[in-house]
Amino acid sequence: FEPGRAHEALRRVRAVPDHPVAGVTFQDVTPLLADGQGLHDVVEAFALAAARRGEVDLVVGMEARGFLLGAPLALRLGTGFVPLRKAGKLPPPTRSVSYELEYGSAELEVGRKSIPAGARVLVVDDVLATGGTAEAACALVEQCGARVVGVDFLLEIDVLAGRTRLSGRSVTSLFGVP
Ligand code: PRP
Repeated sequence: FEPGRAHEALRRVRAVPDHPVAGVTFQDVTPLLADGQGLHDVVEAFALAAARRGEVDLVVGMEARGFLLGAPLALRLGTGFVPLRKAGKLPPPTRSVSYELEYGSAELEVGRKSIPAGARVLVVDDVLATGGTAEAACALVEQCGARVVGVDFLLEIDVLAGRTRLSGRSVTSLFGVP
């Protein structure tokens, strides 16, 4: 695998102005996921980043697009995958954390017994924007008594400075957009 190949894949991400609301540029990763080579190259790039972090016991991804990258990465790393879902989707008992989004507010939940205490957890999502979702995901993992060993994204929107909400954590983005 050549890391430069992931750059090719990035060209398939489509920036959509004013979606879902005026002033927000939506980064649509679905054309990349629909391309077999692109999906492969991006998962390999995530696996390279994960390898630098040492042992990972579990990959966790945020609804919805974090599932699409986190589950294939877990398979690649030989770990399990746990979904963090939006409120009301998971059966009880759950833990939940509320957070602010670039457009609105939301709540993330995890099954109470899904993440074992002491597990070394890698958190994966498609986009780091304001950082609210990732901050909430890390809080949920830690409420479970597990340890966040890294927070990895396909794309980071630099102007929104979401990384500042993850200070002290090991954060990797495969690509940045201004
Ligand atoms: C998007 C994206 C991240 C989050 C990033 O998901 O997939 O999860 O926003 O934003 P933040 O850094 O400002 O928190 P969205 O909430 O749109 O959900 P979806 O994947 O279900 O469409």
